[in-house]
Amino acid sequence: MLLTLWFGLLAGLLSSFVSAEANAVYQDPDTGLVFSSNYQLYKVDRGITFRIAIPTDVQSYTSYDAVVQVVVPNDVGWAGIAWAGSMPRNPLLVAWRNSQNQVVLSSRWATGHVPPQTYTGAQYTLFKTGTKSNSTHWQFTALCKGCTSWNTDTGATRYLSPRGGNRLAFAYSPNKPSNVNSATSTIPIHDVFGYWQHDFTQATNRDWATVVERLTV
Ligand code: HEM
Ligand SMILES: *[C@@H]1O[C@H](CO)[C@@H](O)[C@H](O)[C@H]1NC(C)=O
Repeated sequence: MLLTLWFGLLAGLLSSFVSAEANAVYQDPDTGLVFSSNYQLYKVDRGITFRIAIPTDVQSYTSYDAVVQVVVPNDVGWAGIAWAGSMPRNPLLVAWRNSQNQVVLSSRWATGHVPPQTYTGAQYTLFKTGTKSNSTHWQFTALCKGCTSWNTDTGATRYLSPRGGNRLAFAYSPNKPSNVNSATSTIPIHDVFGYWQHDFTQATNRDWATVVERLTV
């Protein structure tokens, strides 16, 4: 009896972690932006939160800016996002902390399942607001230009839809890059990766230009 109760409690606890609401709308008190938010487990009881904000009134099949906010437990060595939900041939963002505990963002591109190289087609601007840490987590908030559209090797251009879901992927490693102070450092391979549909419809922000300008200073 007691044992059953105990297991019931445990299962309840676990499922409350796992079922963290998909595509929750998050009103960020720090930046003032509205994000759509997804929590991805990399261990049984631990996950990384990925948030995306975009402007309203974006046309489909255009390139548009995005703000990405990621909340990372302190045991993560590096965390990455693949903007089109697979490792090869799409913009990759890799994030870690340097020797001063400052966030390093590295824009990458992989031609296959091989170590990704620096990619200049996407540029990230780290915001001071929305970038912080405490005893359990670090988080960063950054503007990306070039994350919602890119060229394939056949010369075609691919776009993320500003309405509806886009398949994103993440990767996680408990280990840091070999040279934490350099954004072009080699990166150790991931232990875990995963995919989700990220709803961009709920990520739209009306006074985008004003808010982003304030955050960029
Ligand atoms: C640093 C060197 C890296 C190496 C050597 C590497 C290698 C690989 C390999 C061999 C796989 C296939 C695993 C399988 O199918 O079981 C894979 C999958 C994957 N990797 Fe990497 N990877 C690296 C970095 C990264 C980075 C930085 C990201 C994201 C920012 C990433 C994202 C993914 C994802 C999402 C998958 C799932 C399969 C797919 O859709 O392509 N990887 N990687
Ligand atoms: C620690 O920081 C993270 C990321 O900013 C935040 O989500 C979390 O609520 C903070 N925890 C405490 C106890 O303040």
